[in-house]
Amino acid sequence: MSAPKRYTITAALPYTNGPIHIGHLAGVYVPADIYARYLRLTGNDVAYISGSDEHGAAIPMRAKKEGVSPQVIIDKYHGIIKKSFEDFGISFDNYSRTSAKIHHETASEFFTKMYNDGEFIEEVSAQLYDAEANQFLADRFVVGTCPKCGFEESYGDQCENCGTSHNATDLINPKSAITGNVPSVKETKHWFLPLDKHEAFLREWILEGHKKDWKPNVYGQVKSWVEDGLRPRAVTRDLDWGIPVPLKDAEGKVLYVWFDAPIGYISSTKEWAAREGKNWEDYWKKDDTKLVHFIGKDNIVFHCIIFPSMLKAHGDYILPDNVPANEFLNLEGNKLSTSKNWAVWLHEYLEEFPDQQDVLRYTLTANAPESKDNDFTWKDFQAKNNNELVAIFGNFINRVVVLTNKYYEGIIPAPNDFTEVDEDVLAAVKEFPNIIGKSIERYRFREASQELMNLARLGNKYLADEEPWKVIKVDAERVQTIMYVALQISAALAVVSKPFLPFTSDKLKGILNIDDKLSWNDITEKEILLPAAHQINKAELLFSKIEDKTIDAQIEKLEATKIANEQENKVVEPQKETIEFDDFTKLDIRIGTILEAEKVAKTKKLLKLKVDVGIDTRTIVSGIAESFKPEDIIGQQVSVLVNLAPRKIRGVESQGMILMTDTPDGKLAFVEPTKEVKNGQQVS
Ligand code: MF3
Ligand code: ZN
Repeated sequence: MSAPKRYTITAALPYTNGPIHIGHLAGVYVPADIYARYLRLTGNDVAYISGSDEHGAAIPMRAKKEGVSPQVIIDKYHGIIKKSFEDFGISFDNYSRTSAKIHHETASEFFTKMYNDGEFIEEVSAQLYDAEANQFLADRFVVGTCPKCGFEESYGDQCENCGTSHNATDLINPKSAITGNVPSVKETKHWFLPLDKHEAFLREWILEGHKKDWKPNVYGQVKSWVEDGLRPRAVTRDLDWGIPVPLKDAEGKVLYVWFDAPIGYISSTKEWAAREGKNWEDYWKKDDTKLVHFIGKDNIVFHCIIFPSMLKAHGDYILPDNVPANEFLNLEGNKLSTSKNWAVWLHEYLEEFPDQQDVLRYTLTANAPESKDNDFTWKDFQAKNNNELVAIFGNFINRVVVLTNKYYEGIIPAPNDFTEVDEDVLAAVKEFPNIIGKSIERYRFREASQELMNLARLGNKYLADEEPWKVIKVDAERVQTIMYVALQISAALAVVSKPFLPFTSDKLKGILNIDDKLSWNDITEKEILLPAAHQINKAELLFSKIEDKTIDAQIEKLEATKIANEQENKVVEPQKETIEFDDFTKLDIRIGTILEAEKVAKTKKLLKLKVDVGIDTRTIVSGIAESFKPEDIIGQQVSVLVNLAPRKIRGVESQGMILMTDTPDGKLAFVEPTKEVKNGQQVS
């Protein structure tokens, strides 16, 4: 194991425009949490830092939609998000928010220092403008075609399809996200970070310096951007939501959210240090501190190119040692989406699976989108719980604890001679902290979680092979040794499971009555983990089986979301050309009653109807057979266009038209009076 070090571990600041879901957890917060917990357990000095990102453009947009102030939105979601993190055991040392005073000050100072050092270009340029909304359009306020990949709904600052970051004026066919208008252009002054000036540094630092140790997905993206050529990027905006630009002639301008947000890592560290009596500068300015950013892949450009260029230009700061970005997690085959409600929300999960945080943590880790996008399915969630956590980990522990209580009243027996198998198993257990630790240090959390499960497998197999429940009848002394060995494995599991399954680890430590007496390194270094004569407690279930009906209910819930989305997205036909009143009065629409109905032979859609329209009874052919059975519509009142020129349909003369409309489930419905009226009554 490597010598103890100081670590600053950051997890992307989530936007407070909605709650958080499994994608956030899987991509960023669980892997970062495993990393932070592991490093603390191995004696390192760790600051695990995050907070809410409260200046994103989606926030004032959402506020406008809900008719409240942005402050109401950020307070609401900051609370929900913070609580979700606590509930899931995400062990931040500090969780701050970018609306905090300390952050406004830190970001302003950062900008001012760069400004004074001449690190920005000041330039008046033409920017997109929405005259109706009286607002400049950048970032999420404008959508258009991505100049790189042709995706038609790219945002002004970044394309969600190909990840490219660009300037709003680069978009092809831009449209205002506020009014839908085609924007005009208007001149305005902004401050630009000349990324082109930092290209040489970025090439040397990343392309040459981190070829081997950065993940291929991260390295590859950075390389392609640098090679495409870097251009100056505006770091200020004409908006009323954000941190005011700290300059005299900058009225109505704020810092670009992606300028201020990463500085939030620094502000959050300051807040923590002040509270804990630490020196924040040690965590950001000392060369022997290892800075690691955990993010999702859509954040790569900001954390690998823009923020490092800012840190470098500012001059006082260290650079990240690694940026282990994850790919995306999908849900049942579709992209997770806050606006489409296509998600498993953490607060809802906990209502439906109370106290089962570790099941989700485990599933998301075992199936983490580390090197490619991955899919979360409820069936897989159920399988991971039932076949691994319950059948392997839980089953092993349960047998050990139950038998120890049954045979020895919970007192660990003294072992007799070890067999070769016993020796091998005990030696193998000592290897696990190292094996797991190596995977974690290389950011391979899936692999690490599988090694953890392999330790439980080792225990399960040992018991299955040694069969103490059979041997007890013939050789009680041997059983003492078997149970002693199995208890050592249990203790090791209690310790090394902590980064992954913190709640389970604590529960297991309670059952084994070891509290925090054993450290990570003890598993390898100590001869004995649980001595003979140590008293353990009664068995408690660590995991429980998840039934099909529970899973089916979750799948149905998603189905319902899908249907709701489809209905919402049904396009309403645009209004037809304007007509004069006289045109309308030419239509003779009357209420009639269906007297007879029969299918038109050899057709699927047509019914032949006899309708009493007051002035007469006539035959009308109508394409409604897929929505109604003939016998069900006798006596139905309908609206009929009676002066439509007669026409022959499938050999039958149709003398009018029944007015229909579509229902959300794709069927037809009659347009009928809400009260029964006399046949022949006009509709006008
Ligand atoms: N809020 C951003 C997102 O959700 C992440 C910000 S990370 C930070 O994509 F570095 F800017 F803080
Ligand atoms: Zn694109």
